[in-house]
Amino acid sequence: MWRQLTSWVEERTGASAFFHRWLELPIPGGPRWRHTFTTAIAFTFACQCITGFFLWAVYSPSVQTAWESVFFIEHKMIGGWLLRGLHHFAAHAMMILLGLTLLQIVIYRAYRSPREVNHLLGVLLILPIIMVLSQTGYLLPWDQRGFYGTQVATTIAGSAPVVGPEVQLVAQGGGEYGHHTLTRLFALHAGLLPALLAVLMIIYACWARRNPRVAETPEEEAATAPYWPGQAARDAIVCLAVMTTIVLLATFMGVETTAPADPSEEFPAARPEWYFLFLFRFLKFHIVEQFGLAFGAIHVPGMIITIIALMPWIGRWKLGHAFNVAFVLGVFGGIGYLTALAMYEDAKNPIHQASLKQAHADAERVKELALAKGIPVEGALSLLKNDPLAQGPRLFTANCLGCHAHSAIPVVEHQIPTYSAPDLSEFGSRDWMKRALVDFSELFAPTANLKDESGEPVRSLLEGEMAGWSSENRDALLEPENAKHLAALVEFMVAQSGRSDLAPFDEELVKLGRQIFENGELAMGALSSNCIDCHSMHAVDEAMPLSENEGTGAPTLTGYGGVKWLTGMIASPEAPSYYADGNCMPSFYSQLSAEQISLIARWMAGDYWREAAEQSDSQTATH
Ligand code: HEC
Ligand code: HEC
Repeated sequence: MWRQLTSWVEERTGASAFFHRWLELPIPGGPRWRHTFTTAIAFTFACQCITGFFLWAVYSPSVQTAWESVFFIEHKMIGGWLLRGLHHFAAHAMMILLGLTLLQIVIYRAYRSPREVNHLLGVLLILPIIMVLSQTGYLLPWDQRGFYGTQVATTIAGSAPVVGPEVQLVAQGGGEYGHHTLTRLFALHAGLLPALLAVLMIIYACWARRNPRVAETPEEEAATAPYWPGQAARDAIVCLAVMTTIVLLATFMGVETTAPADPSEEFPAARPEWYFLFLFRFLKFHIVEQFGLAFGAIHVPGMIITIIALMPWIGRWKLGHAFNVAFVLGVFGGIGYLTALAMYEDAKNPIHQASLKQAHADAERVKELALAKGIPVEGALSLLKNDPLAQGPRLFTANCLGCHAHSAIPVVEHQIPTYSAPDLSEFGSRDWMKRALVDFSELFAPTANLKDESGEPVRSLLEGEMAGWSSENRDALLEPENAKHLAALVEFMVAQSGRSDLAPFDEELVKLGRQIFENGELAMGALSSNCIDCHSMHAVDEAMPLSENEGTGAPTLTGYGGVKWLTGMIASPEAPSYYADGNCMPSFYSQLSAEQISLIARWMAGDYWREAAEQSDSQTATH
């Protein structure tokens, strides 16, 4: 029965005969490891098609959904991370295999007559298509790295003479990167290019069969063996090894998705994928720059590819083969050198490293927020844009860092500004409060650098009322007998902020602190003058204000250190309830939007989502 069925099929299709002919294909010189590369390329390509199909089923190409759908694949879909990891690392494996194939073709003269056309097919079509396939895939997650990295690549493409700008315009779907860039490059990546590649690879295989390699020496002739089992086993082993490597990389390294692409946020660490890094670095040589982008990006690589394409003919000359081998080795050596150089320079470049660090931090943060809160319809970017922890430091760097230091913000060594206002790292904390009371001049020491319009130093803060008060009362407050009273004053002040990152507050101390704030009585002695004599204060949960002093230059202590106090201070420090006439800080209400001021204030007051909030609260409370 079975026999009948198989012979029925065989008569009509010839499948089995075809298969046998394949297996019995004689290989001159016998099985060789170096012949496995092409099979491995076909194998990785098949992996790409299969994993790609499943990714395609979930991926959603639009500015608001691309990153989000990749996030879904990575974090919500069962095995999605593995699927994506396989697709990602198989692409890298393919690039390496391509390089190895080219090397072996040139070294072993596999391009010799009558296989020149195959060589042309490989060098002029298959290789570039695979590179473009990989590079377009880089963009699809629509994250910062892919977004800016691919721009480097399209700018290079755009520099091609005559058609360059048109190609760039069509590929980008407009003058700038946007929704149409995604849809177009996706259509290329998942549609046209793989189909084209599949056809080309089949043609390549057919032509390779039509013009098989022939044995050159009698020894080779003698060693000739059929494909099965020697070569087949080697192919299988290499494919298995490639697969294992890919699985291991996907499992233990994973693919990083940086934060969602943000056209308004520069990304100095933008680089194309590693196999284009050499070109990127080459273009930065001063001498190459002088000749223009097209020279370095198109003419030189074009010339190199032309020479490689012509190798079957060059190889016919006596010294041709030696030239070919020297040439590819030179090219590969150059590529290796430039890639290493680019990586080395990036590793040493503080701006690049800072940008990478920022990208990692954003990636972690947006992931955390998306997992905890879910992604809003506007897209995941809005999570980051509305997050005080992500935006606060950026806004602070841009607007405040010139005067205030902050420990959360690293400054490159040679860019440290001359600070002219207090270090705000610990602003509003118990420690800060204590220092404001017993060490005001020390806390405000940077204000010694303040200059007025005529360039004269301004010392109003260092010789002002609070500095005077602090030095007068310092010794009393630091008396061991008064330790509890100092702590109470501090606790009362900190409780005014209502900050969750400083909570819980010790109720008993707060009560005692409130009394001291009002009457200045300590366990031993008393304060020279009371806080309410100068500052206005409306304590939390109280019906009546303790004091209403406005316009005295002593900032209000109502809600001191909390979001509201900070918002007011940043917006208009010259307001009567803040520093009034004594103010030396620019007001930001006209320079920043209300949202931006709120983001800074909320960041400084620790008012943002964090993991295991209860845990970190109890930690700060024990200080
Ligand atoms: C030109 C320098 C300068 C810049 C820029 C500046 N500040 Fe200030 N800041 C000061 C000075 C000086 C004080 C001291 C009080 C005063 O003079 O108003 C101060 C006070 C403060 C205070 C009150 C706590 C303290 O140390 O007295 C806060 C909070 C503050 N600044 C936040 C910010 C933030 C946030 C920004 C950025 C949006 C910023 N500052 C930008 C100079 C500056
Ligand atoms: C003699 C008036 C006076 C008294 C009394 C006084 N302060 Fe002040 N305080 C000031 C002035 C004025 C400033 C603004 C800095 C300056 O010009 O010296 C200030 C600044 C401060 C600041 C810094 C605000 C900022 O920008 O971050 C804090 C905190 C503070 N006072 C808390 C207190 C507390 C708490 C008490 C009571 C234990 C107190 N002060 C008593 C006048 C006074």
